[in-house]
Amino acid sequence: MHANAQEIVVCPGCRGSLRLHASESVIIETGTLECSSCGAVYPVRRGVPRFVSTESYADTFGRQWTRWARTQHDSLNETTIFRGRMQRYTGWTPESMSGKVVVDAGCGPGGFIDVIEEHAKLVIGFDLSCAIDAAYELHGRRPNVHLAQADIFRSPLPDGVADRVYTFGVVQHTEDPESAFRSLIRLVRPGGEIAVWVYRRSRIPQPLYLVRRFTAGMSEPRATRFIEWYVPKAYRVSGMVGRVPVLGRYLRRLIPVADYRDRRDERRQLSSEQMFEWALMDTHDMLITRYTYPQRWEDLQRWMRDLEGVRRPTPSEMAAVATKPA
Ligand SMILES: C[S@@+](CC[C@H](N)C(=O)[O-])C[C@H]1O[C@@H](n2cnc3c(N)ncnc32)[C@H](O)[C@@H]1O
Ligand SMILES: [Zn+2]
Repeated sequence: MHANAQEIVVCPGCRGSLRLHASESVIIETGTLECSSCGAVYPVRRGVPRFVSTESYADTFGRQWTRWARTQHDSLNETTIFRGRMQRYTGWTPESMSGKVVVDAGCGPGGFIDVIEEHAKLVIGFDLSCAIDAAYELHGRRPNVHLAQADIFRSPLPDGVADRVYTFGVVQHTEDPESAFRSLIRLVRPGGEIAVWVYRRSRIPQPLYLVRRFTAGMSEPRATRFIEWYVPKAYRVSGMVGRVPVLGRYLRRLIPVADYRDRRDERRQLSSEQMFEWALMDTHDMLITRYTYPQRWEDLQRWMRDLEGVRRPTPSEMAAVATKPA
């Protein structure tokens, strides 16, 4: 944690200002943050301020992102996958972050921070799980990046702190996606923007949700052992189904495995070994995560009811951007 982060974060309970107690003076590895209004004390451990005492239901993500921390980083893969995703979801380029304060809610190990950190004035990322330790390892030393372990429902940030807030692939994994999204609106300054991307709710029942009946919330190390047993088989079946003439690419989607071999987006840039690693990681995400509530466009519109200029930059993505009224 950078010592000057104490000027940005607030008490998630009462929004009072926080006073830092630490022996280090620039980069704080260990210390405490004390609320000057209610007296609550939050520890700083391994360089990260901790505003939650447990990972709660997000422990599956903690394990997933600890194991595959570096897998989804454009700068490490030499790809433009996360740049492309951000652009499809929002129309924003990393360069358009220049001079802006940006909040990444549910940042995981920081795949999106990776593409904006060299452009934004300030990036504030937080996550409920210990994925934040991976983010700290990869991004925390940059002076314009501040990270915290915190809950989207009780974020340790003041109202109007950000020019842009985004949350990608997060709120559908909470118990209450609409409230999770709406708890972020207060962080946007008037005239600023907020963006969300979620899983799409399909009209046809997905076999994935049948498998999840047995796998959701499975404990470790059983979960990872299961994924390592299951994914190679499901991936082979998906490959075979994919070769069926004409219908193959549609039928393949019915197999509950993250198989990107026929995707026409930036994921084509991955080697076959990388694609398989993504299959392991994303299938862990799909099957083991405790909550997964996919959404429809009408849901996102309802979540954004009091915002202006609600738009869907890419019709094939379940993503929306809107502006907070000035
Ligand atoms: C699928 S991952 C997406 C990570 C990142 N946004 C990305 O797209 O690479 C979902 C993340 O949401 C986090 N998360 C889930 N519930 C949360 C909550 N209530 N508050 C903050 N983060 C949460 C998880 O810990 C996990 O890292
Ligand atoms: Zn307080």
